[in-house]
Amino acid sequence: MRSVRPGTISAAFADASANAPDSRTRDMLVSLATALHDFVIKTQLSNDEWRAGIAALARAGETSGDARNEFSLLSDMLGISSLVNMISAQESATPSSVLGPFHQRRAPKLPNGGDLWKGQPGEVLVMTGGVFDAATGEPVAGATLDLWQNADNGLYAAQDSQQRGRNYHGILRTDAQGRYAFTTTRPVPYTVPTDGVAGEMLRLLGREAWRPAHLHVIVEAKGYHQIVTELFPDDDPWLDRDAAFAVREELVIHFERCSDKGAMPDWLEARDRLPPEFLTGSMKFYIAPKTRTLERPT
Ligand code: BEZ
Ligand code: FE
Repeated sequence: MRSVRPGTISAAFADASANAPDSRTRDMLVSLATALHDFVIKTQLSNDEWRAGIAALARAGETSGDARNEFSLLSDMLGISSLVNMISAQESATPSSVLGPFHQRRAPKLPNGGDLWKGQPGEVLVMTGGVFDAATGEPVAGATLDLWQNADNGLYAAQDSQQRGRNYHGILRTDAQGRYAFTTTRPVPYTVPTDGVAGEMLRLLGREAWRPAHLHVIVEAKGYHQIVTELFPDDDPWLDRDAAFAVREELVIHFERCSDKGAMPDWLEARDRLPPEFLTGSMKFYIAPKTRTLERPT
């Protein structure tokens, strides 16, 4: 290996990794190293540029901790998170979208028909829909929807000392017919944190830090692949400029203006408290069973 050249360094790396105990790990790392070698050659990277890159990674490490992960944000802003989601998607299932940094494990239980709004400012939104088997189209009873979103001020509970810790976070279960409903407020667009390396990258690229408004959902049911996804209102100005590249057409939904409380499910907890005018939205989630072969029902 003593006469390594630009054209042979990737092969040398692969040869040096021949004894890796796990072949998948070896293949991924050899492939990553090869892609990085190609990048160095293609861009004719200088020593100063490479050192600047290493320093940026070190700064990302310094700003990362329990409450914040700058590498995860970089992955989102580079489009990697979104790409991993897309290539891991189960055919026929509802597309996935980025998890983002604000999911809270063990969110409070929300009764089906329950209320995340709780009289807080914002446009009141009634969401209804169901969870279905992507192979058969049959409703999935007892599926969980782990829901979280920002408040009308654009902030998630974790970012805002004025909100209770789990505000706008809740997990509900679909009923025997696979249905769900809840009240909330319309989520609003917001900017991702720009005070770290990911923000530096956005500025260097002349990019904006906005994400379109979205409602996060993790759909789960026993025997099915989990879906981590987001729903986006169709009138959001940032839909085509999401900093995280996470919008998919199938996840864009329309909010209808409504003034007929009586048309809402009678099991909606806040039905009688709804304002004279509110928004309604609907989404059917299709989840893929773990074993069967799939064909999207028509
Ligand atoms: C979010 O959805 O909250 C989010 C996603 C990616 C990066 C930052 C925030
Ligand atoms: Fe989010």
